[in-house]
Amino acid sequence: MMGRFLLAPPFLLLATPAAAATGEPVNPWVALAYLVSGVFFILALRGLSSPASSRTGNRFGMVGMLIAVVTTLVTHDVANIVEILVAITIGALIGVTIARRIAMTAMPELVAAFHSLVGLAAVLVGWAAYLNPGAFGLLMPDGGIEAVSKVEMGLGIAIGAITFSGSVIAFLKLSGRMSGSPILLPARHVINLGTLAAIVVLTALFALAAPQATLPLIVGLTVLAFVIGFLLIVPIGGADMPVVVSMLNSYSGWAAAAMGFTLGNTAMIITGALVGSSGAILSYIMCRAMNRSFLSVIAGGFGADANAGGGEAREQRPYKQGSAADAAFMLEQAEKVIIIPGYGMAVAQAQHALREMADILEAKGVEVKYAIHPVAGRMPGHMNVLLAEAQVPYENVFELEDINSEFAQADVAFIIGANDVVNPAAKTDKSSPIYGMPVFDVDKAKQVFFIKRSMGGVGYAGVDNDVFYMDQTMMLLADAKKMVEEIVKAMD
Ligand code: TAP
Repeated sequence: MMGRFLLAPPFLLLATPAAAATGEPVNPWVALAYLVSGVFFILALRGLSSPASSRTGNRFGMVGMLIAVVTTLVTHDVANIVEILVAITIGALIGVTIARRIAMTAMPELVAAFHSLVGLAAVLVGWAAYLNPGAFGLLMPDGGIEAVSKVEMGLGIAIGAITFSGSVIAFLKLSGRMSGSPILLPARHVINLGTLAAIVVLTALFALAAPQATLPLIVGLTVLAFVIGFLLIVPIGGADMPVVVSMLNSYSGWAAAAMGFTLGNTAMIITGALVGSSGAILSYIMCRAMNRSFLSVIAGGFGADANAGGGEAREQRPYKQGSAADAAFMLEQAEKVIIIPGYGMAVAQAQHALREMADILEAKGVEVKYAIHPVAGRMPGHMNVLLAEAQVPYENVFELEDINSEFAQADVAFIIGANDVVNPAAKTDKSSPIYGMPVFDVDKAKQVFFIKRSMGGVGYAGVDNDVFYMDQTMMLLADAKKMVEEIVKAMD
């Protein structure tokens, strides 16, 4: 699913003035080639919606992009093809190196960094079209640019600039270079609405202004859009960041689509609209899975109040601690084990050891299932990707709504590095920041094993978890990978 994010950056390569914009008739073969590339992008999105087909989906996306870029290059009057090919090669080398090195847990920040480039590219394309309208076929006899083209240009620049500065802040927050907690400016809603209104007014004035009066207007709207991108993202807390990354992904798509209209490039319009709408749908799905409204995410402030929800529950309460040997013994006695992985499994990279443990249990006749919460980890599909990497069979992996009723029949709920997604406060505590989020009914299992490093650590939402203190819970306090390896050793 998250591979879908990566569709975004290369499509601005298509930002070459197109035949339609230069007033020439559109070559039907070009239109056909762009349409075929659009079909490949749709197949890519379809493929990326399931781990089993995601590799094929990625390949479809690559073929679609290749068709679109080659079509653009061969059908346009490209000034210096060598320069373009050198730039593509350098970009490809950088992309491949980063993609090979990046840790899966750092994927959201990488995506944020890439989106900032998409936003910046949209701003630069818009400015290039403004400064040299003749090259883009936009020059009118009076030396100006048609109002509708200026609206598209203004929108593309504004959305691109918001995407750029917003993505830079998202990158800084996600990579820990800037505090992940929300930074709340006084009267921020008024400032934000005022700035957005000013951008709309400036875009309208820019569209209507005489050619010689447009420069200060386009400068003003560009600067304000950079500022609003910063202002919109700064108040958003770490837990909401993946939603923001997906939202910025959506913005980058709309920026490209607006540029596609300016340039008369069908492929950019199609790709931009696909990225824009799929990003918006993904943001919506994430919000629904966390039971947060999209508006409350955008309004920010989640996690700002450290005492929110179960904060007061962080007093000392009795809990049971167990060892790997205890866990191994009980797991071997079980008939049915449900594993709930979360962010901690990803950090510890415990998926391979986990698979080994599950294999041993299955060989002993234990039924083992994996339960994946839609927002487990830090990005959509995070756990699915890790389990697929460890070659866990897809048929053993279940979504929340498909497995939640089975906890009542489970002998063991094995929680590894998950926390918020099993927190019953989401069902019972109206003051909790995760109230309303659907969670796994692990309390219904006969025995619960809870792997985390210490009693002090909390989940992303920063709230205590009653599951730690239940009678049937045994805390296994250690790094997830180390603990599972020890359990495996103890089972031999
Ligand atoms: P979290 O609630 O974030 O809990 C992570 C747990 O892992 C903590 O209990 C932590 O405790 C433990 N941990 C960390 N490193 C570990 C290690 N090396 N070994 C063992 N345990 C380790 O995780 P979750 O249940 O997956 O929930 C995800 C959260 O992110 C939710 O609040 C969700 O709303 C939010 N979120 C997710 C998404 C997407 S799309 N996935 C999007 C936005 C927000 P210790 O520190 O004590 O080890």
